[in-house]
Amino acid sequence: MLLLASVQSRAGEDCQQLVGNKCASCHFVTYICPRIEKGKGTLYWKGILHDMIKEGLVATDEEKDRLVSCLADPDAKVKALCPAKK
Ligand code: HEC
Repeated sequence: MLLLASVQSRAGEDCQQLVGNKCASCHFVTYICPRIEKGKGTLYWKGILHDMIKEGLVATDEEKDRLVSCLADPDAKVKALCPAKK
């Protein structure tokens, strides 16, 4: 199994940028917000990524892995892409 340390090579592209760049071109990021908020797991997001690639999403394997972990375990900046709920 590969260690995620190699992800450091993509320094500068954090989860917020990655999700914003990769997931907002066909539909708005807000479209996926309910799923982010529900705390869907890695398997769910892997399946979604697979489907999105069939729709035409272009991402390297590294970006895919990164996106899955960004979405399954969203940090505050990823959540900030979504409208705040009160
Ligand atoms: C190339 C266009 C494209 C890109 C890029 C894209 N999507 Fe999608 N996405 C679609 C289309 C088209 C649908 C509607 C598919 C359907 O319902 O059959 C969709 C639907 C979805 C759904 C709802 C699926 C469901 O089963 O209800 C989710 C969640 C989703 N996208 C997440 C993402 C995420 C996360 C990314 C970024 C990694 C992303 N999408 C990038 C085209 C895209």
